[in-house]
Amino acid sequence: MKKINILGLGPGDKGYILPITKEYIKKSDILIGGRRNIESLGSMAAGKEIRYIDRHLDELAAYIRSNRGRHISLIVSGDTGFYSMVPFMKSHFEVKDLNIISGISSMQYMFAKIGYSYEDTFIGSVHGRECNYLSPLKERKNAGLLTDNKATPQVIAQNLLDSGIKAEIYVGERLSYRDEVITVMDLSEMAELKIIFDINVVIIIPR
Ligand SMILES: C[S@@+](CC[C@H](N)C(=O)[O-])C[C@H]1O[C@@H](n2cnc3c(N)ncnc32)[C@H](O)[C@@H]1O
Repeated sequence: MKKINILGLGPGDKGYILPITKEYIKKSDILIGGRRNIESLGSMAAGKEIRYIDRHLDELAAYIRSNRGRHISLIVSGDTGFYSMVPFMKSHFEVKDLNIISGISSMQYMFAKIGYSYEDTFIGSVHGRECNYLSPLKERKNAGLLTDNKATPQVIAQNLLDSGIKAEIYVGERLSYRDEVITVMDLSEMAELKIIFDINVVIIIPR
């Protein structure tokens, strides 16, 4: 039985993939991942069996189990220890059967981009989940949040305004890709903004 690789790509662009991760990708027979992550691999994915992740996760676990004789890499974004698929894999396989290589998180990348450190910062996710980011912000801590298409930067900005918080909000969209955009605004401007952001993280700095 071969170990199953779980490889964190980094925020997305190929330039941020660690050399060791590229080696494991090269040696893989099967690559499993979300469409964006697999597409980020470009020619590195050529000739590999590809399986895209969908909502049928139990079928995915069965597929991995039935291919344990081959080199399998599960490709995830960013840091494998930060809202990733490691807990799912641990619920189906033993840790000793996993080879986990983390990458640079979208959050870590974004803090660097805007020139802030993230010690003493509230880091969380509203990506498909509830998260109490208001309390730390009321205590004047900075906050970094993974978002999704429901908990958008506009929704977060409105929520902060409704709670009487004064802050600047940074949105990092398509981080690391050639068409990356970083936007900074005050909360009322952001809440009114009529655009749909592509994949993004937000950082909130209380004023
Ligand atoms: C399932 S979480 C995975 C986070 C990942 N483990 C990390 O460390 O970045 C997906 C969320 O990460 C953020 N994200 C991942 N890649 C991104 C990118 N290139 N640009 C902006 N946000 C990104 C978005 O908030 C997205 O909804």
